[in-house]
Amino acid sequence: MQESDISAEFFKTVSATPLAAAIHGQCFKPGWSESDFISAFGVPGTVLEVLSLADQPVAIALYRQIIDEAEILTLGTLPAYREKGLAGQLLEKGFHYLRQNKATFLYLEVGAENIPAQRLYTSKGFIESGRRPNYYNHDAGYEDALMMKRSL
Ligand SMILES: CC(C)(COP(=O)(O)OP(=O)(O)OC[C@H]1O[C@@H](n2cnc3c(N)ncnc32)[C@H](O)[C@@H]1OP(=O)(O)O)[C@@H](O)C(=O)NCCC(=O)NCCS
Repeated sequence: MQESDISAEFFKTVSATPLAAAIHGQCFKPGWSESDFISAFGVPGTVLEVLSLADQPVAIALYRQIIDEAEILTLGTLPAYREKGLAGQLLEKGFHYLRQNKATFLYLEVGAENIPAQRLYTSKGFIESGRRPNYYNHDAGYEDALMMKRSL
């Protein structure tokens, strides 16, 4: 995998929501539907990042920025493309975009049992800033959310 084969595109409108829903559905069970993404775009400051490898979309992140504070709403890499550094690239390119857009802080919430995602975020400079007990309600039970943040 060559770095020059990796590119990111940023969408401030709903144009890429079918693609986002298709990727999200392979990353989460259940994934967000296209109308979930369209609803997210109903809130100002929402932006979708699509990362492609050799022009093939492989990972997405959805951000929301209010003044200088941004949040990651959701993020995922297609299962066949994981552990190749692609989510790391997605975040690096996202940081660059958000900095250019004058964001100074980036926040997120991650499942306390989601070790791959926590490794990703820690390796990209996020630190834990709090915990919301029983925040996620899965079929199998409740899971705490870890709150994480980093400066941009
Ligand atoms: C979490 C997720 C986005 C990681 O994507 P990825 O493209 O495989 O991540 P990368 O290859 O860029 O890896 C980034 C770091 O996380 C680590 N990591 C990734 N997957 C891992 C795993 N399964 N186990 C342990 N560490 C893992 C890598 O070793 C790497 O660490 P390093 O930078 O110290 O070497 C991906 O597993 C995914 O889409 N999961 C389902 C959706 C999800 O949980 N999203 C996050 C919601 S908050």
